[in-house]
Amino acid sequence: MSDSTADTVPAPVAIVTGGAGGMGLAIATVLLGDGFRVALLDRRGAQEAAAMFPETGEATGRRVLGVEVDVTDEGAVRAAVAQVDVTWGRVDALVNNAGIEPQHSLESIEAGTWRVTLDVNLTGPALMIKHCIPLWRRQGGGRVVSIGSRVWLGGGATASYSASKAGLVGMTRTACRELGALGVTANVVAPSFVRTPLNAEKGDAEFVNAYADRFAAASPLGRLVEPVDVANAVAFLLSDRARNITGETVHVAAGTQLAPFIH
Ligand SMILES: NC(=O)c1ccc[n+]([C@@H]2O[C@H](COP(=O)([O-])OP(=O)(O)OC[C@H]3O[C@@H](n4cnc5c(N)ncnc54)[C@H](O)[C@@H]3O)[C@@H](O)[C@H]2O)c1
Repeated sequence: MSDSTADTVPAPVAIVTGGAGGMGLAIATVLLGDGFRVALLDRRGAQEAAAMFPETGEATGRRVLGVEVDVTDEGAVRAAVAQVDVTWGRVDALVNNAGIEPQHSLESIEAGTWRVTLDVNLTGPALMIKHCIPLWRRQGGGRVVSIGSRVWLGGGATASYSASKAGLVGMTRTACRELGALGVTANVVAPSFVRTPLNAEKGDAEFVNAYADRFAAASPLGRLVEPVDVANAVAFLLSDRARNITGETVHVAAGTQLAPFIH
C-alpha cells in the first residue's frame, strides 16, 4: 500500500488523529515519506500542523490536509471523514493516535475525568473506525492502527489511562474479527515513554527528565523510544508487508513492557 506512487495508481490516503501532537507529526512525516497523502485531524492546531509540511507542487497535488475535529463528537468525526473522502476520494488507513492522560489517583478520581479519558482514548477511535467502514467497504479493504500504550499490560499510569489503552486492545481484537471480511486489518502499537507534549505536561523539566531516565534504565537496550520508532511501526503495519498481521499489539517500548513497575 505504501509504495503506490506511480501515475496510474492514486497515492494512498491516511488519516492521523492527534495529528498536531508529538507522535502525530512523526507518523505523518514517515507516512508522507512512504508516499501517503495524510489528513491530520486534531481538536486544535490541525491547520498549522498541516502547514508545516512543504507541499510537493501542482503536478502531484495537495498531500497534507489539516482538519479541526474533536474525535469524541460523532457529528464532527462523520464530517471530517467525509471531508477527506471529498478531497481525495479514498481513505486507505486510519491511525487512531489522539490521546490524553489526565493525572489522578484512584482515590481522587472524579467521574468526569474518568469519562473524558475513556471518551477521547477509546470512544473516539471507535467512532473513527465506524465512519471509515463505508469507505473501506467501497474500496475493498483498509487498515487501522491505534496507538495504545505499554501500560495496558504493565499498568503503572493512571487508572483511567491504563483502562482506556487496555480497552483499545480489546476493541482492536473485535475489529480484527468484524472487519476482516472487508479486507481490513486492525492492530495496536503500544509505546512506552516518549518525549512529547503529553509527558512534558506532567511536571517541570527536572521531573520529566528523571522520569525519562527511569525508563531508559528499565530498558534492556538502555535507551528511550523516540517518536520516529513509533511512526516506523505504524508505517510497517499500514504497508502490504503487514497484510496478514491483524488483531496484534506491537510494543515499541525498548523492552520496557517486560519491566517490573516503573515509577
Ligand atoms: N508520549 C508518550 O510517552 C506515549 C506513550 C504511550 C502512548 N502514547 C500515546 O500516543 C498518542 C499520541 O500522544 P503524544 O505523546 O503525541 O501526545 P501529544 O499530547 O503530543 O498529542 C496528542 C494529540 O491529541 C490531540 N487530542 C487530544 N484530545 C483530542 C480530541 N478529543 N480530538 C482530537 N484530538 C485530540 C491533542 O490536541 C494532541 O495534538 C496518544 O494516544 C498517547 O496516549 C504516548
